Amino acid sequence: MENISSIRHIAFIMDGNGRWAAARGLPRTAGHTAGAKAFRNIVEYCGDLGISTVTVYAFSTENWRRPQSEVTAIMKIFSEYLGYAEKECGKKNIAVRFLGDKSPFGEKTAARMTALEETTSGNFFTLNIAVNYGGRADIVHAVNKLISDGKKTVTEDDITGALYTAHSPSPDLIIRTGSEKRISNFLLWDCAYSEFCFSDVLWPDFDAKELDRCLEDYYGRKRRYGGL
Ligand code: IPE
Ligand code: IPE
Ligand code: MG
Repeated sequence: MENISSIRHIAFIMDGNGRWAAARGLPRTAGHTAGAKAFRNIVEYCGDLGISTVTVYAFSTENWRRPQSEVTAIMKIFSEYLGYAEKECGKKNIAVRFLGDKSPFGEKTAARMTALEETTSGNFFTLNIAVNYGGRADIVHAVNKLISDGKKTVTEDDITGALYTAHSPSPDLIIRTGSEKRISNFLLWDCAYSEFCFSDVLWPDFDAKELDRCLEDYYGRKRRYGGL
C-alpha cells in the first residue's frame, strides 16, 4: 500500500466479540478470547506497515456494568495478555502505555501495568491500551490535574498535554468494527479531526485484509481541517 508512512496513529474500537461468539453458539467469553488473538495479530501487522502509534479500546469505564462473570473473564484475559506483553513487547520494539485509571484493577495488577510501561518506554512503536478508559473521564482527569498544578484558566494545549494520550499524536484514523456507528466515549478530545471507518466485520474476524480495505478508503479521502 502506498503512502503508508503518512499514517502516524490508528485507533481501534474493538467491538463485536460477544456477537461473534453468539453466532457460533459459544459463550461471550470465547469471543473475548478470540478478540485478544485478533488484537495481537493486528498490532503485529501495524508494526509491519510501519505505523508508529496504535491505540486499542479494550474496556470502557461503562463496561463495568456488564455481568460480573463477563467482567471477571475479561480481566483474566487481560492478565494473560500482560504476561504475553511482558515477554514479547521488548522483542517487538513496542512501548506499551495504558490509558485510564489503573486503580480499579487492584494494586498487584496496577503495579504490573506500570512496570510494563517503564520497562518498554523508549521502544519505537507505541501501543496505547485503553482499559477502564472513558473520553469524558480522561478530560475530567486532565482538568483536575491542571487545577492541582495551580492553573486558574486553561488552553487547548494545556488539556491536550494533560490527557492520558498526551504522549501520542491525535489519531489519523479511528476504525470501529462490529457495525455500530458511534464513538462510545472513546478519545473524545483527540478525535476532533480524525477520520472514521466503520467495518461490519466483528472484531475477532478483523484481519490484515480488512485493515488494508480501511486504509485504502482512508487514503482516498481529503482532510481539510476546516480549511479549503
Ligand atoms: C467488545 O466486544 C469488547 C468489549 C467491549 C470489552 P463486545 O463484548 O461489546 O461485543 P458485542 O458488541 O456484544 O458483540
Ligand atoms: C465500546 O464497545 C467499548 C469497547 C470496544 C471496549 P461497547 O460494546 O461497550 O459499546 P456500546 O455499548 O455498543 O456503545
Ligand atoms: Mg459491543
